[in-house]
Amino acid sequence: MSVAIRPNPSIQTRVQANPPQPVLRMQSVCKGYGAGATRSEVLTNINLNVREGEFLAVVGFSGSGKSTFMKLLAGLESADSGVIEMDGTPIAGPGPERGLVFQNYSLLPWLTVRGNISLSVDSVFRHWGKGERRDHVEKFIEMVGLAHAAHRRPHELSGGMRQRVSLARTLAMKPKILLLDEPLSALDALTRCVLQEEILKIWEEERQTCVMITNDVDEAILVADRIVPLNPGPNASLGPAFTVELDRPRRATELNSNPHFRGLRNAVTNYLVAVRQKSRDDEAAKSVVPKIELPNLQPRSLALPRKATMNSPLVSK
Ligand SMILES: Nc1ncnc2c1ncn2[C@@H]1O[C@H](COP(=O)(O)OP(=O)(O)OP(=O)(O)O)[C@@H](O)[C@H]1O
Ligand SMILES: [Mg+2]
Repeated sequence: MSVAIRPNPSIQTRVQANPPQPVLRMQSVCKGYGAGATRSEVLTNINLNVREGEFLAVVGFSGSGKSTFMKLLAGLESADSGVIEMDGTPIAGPGPERGLVFQNYSLLPWLTVRGNISLSVDSVFRHWGKGERRDHVEKFIEMVGLAHAAHRRPHELSGGMRQRVSLARTLAMKPKILLLDEPLSALDALTRCVLQEEILKIWEEERQTCVMITNDVDEAILVADRIVPLNPGPNASLGPAFTVELDRPRRATELNSNPHFRGLRNAVTNYLVAVRQKSRDDEAAKSVVPKIELPNLQPRSLALPRKATMNSPLVSK
């Protein structure tokens, strides 16, 4: 007997008939380094969809594979297996539609602030007139508050200023997707706060798709629509996503008193702490030396029998 299952009209499903195609898609992605005995598996079975205009934060501990994950999206590393696509096309290498801000600034030391930004703008917008490119560069120098230092070289800038140049250089290329690999981790807490708000302000104006790596849960909640934890490696995989239901624009100073912010901070932090503990327990269990049962043997007495002792040439008569 077959039973017909009819949809219950009183229940509203949240599943959309045609969900929009993700702008970034990772499916069953694995990545390791090295070969043979020195091989290390870093990422395993990574599955992720990023929606157009979404701000996604990936949080994880140091060494878990966050930069490796970002390099895969940037096309600077290729996956060992699995699919990584942008707009349905496999990512085969770096491209100007994906702008990456590195963890360590990566500015050219012999170029000024203006020179570093111009280099990228000139290479991406070759078809623009010289004046148009110059105005564009100046606009982004001003946007990150560095007009007074535009003539300085990287060694003449503070860490926060270098990170601003790096950010301006990437934003000025107008990438469709912004990839930020811990862009603020090298900064002191105060500068970090200022730049967090700047990144947020710029993003609120442009609403580009953005993937940001961070090791700071508060920062992730401040900026993101969705937070995905990267479980500790080796063989790191992504944990369950946490949705950030906080209205925008968001201001760091106002969040501390917000109950959703506090609840989410606890949930994400507890999750990360628990998976790290589990990973440590698993590693410890692997490294326990197995107990070896020894046979029940008694040592044999090596003393000579009394008679033999008397006849021994070693015994002087
Ligand atoms: N090119 C490489 N060759 C070999 N191993 C590498 C390479 N790049 C990274 N690794 C290893 O992969 C693992 C993950 O490194 P990765 O830089 O992705 O971590 P991370 O989460 O970004 O760390 P951090 O928070 O300190 O920046 C580490 O064990 C690292 O030693
Ligand atoms: Mg890193």
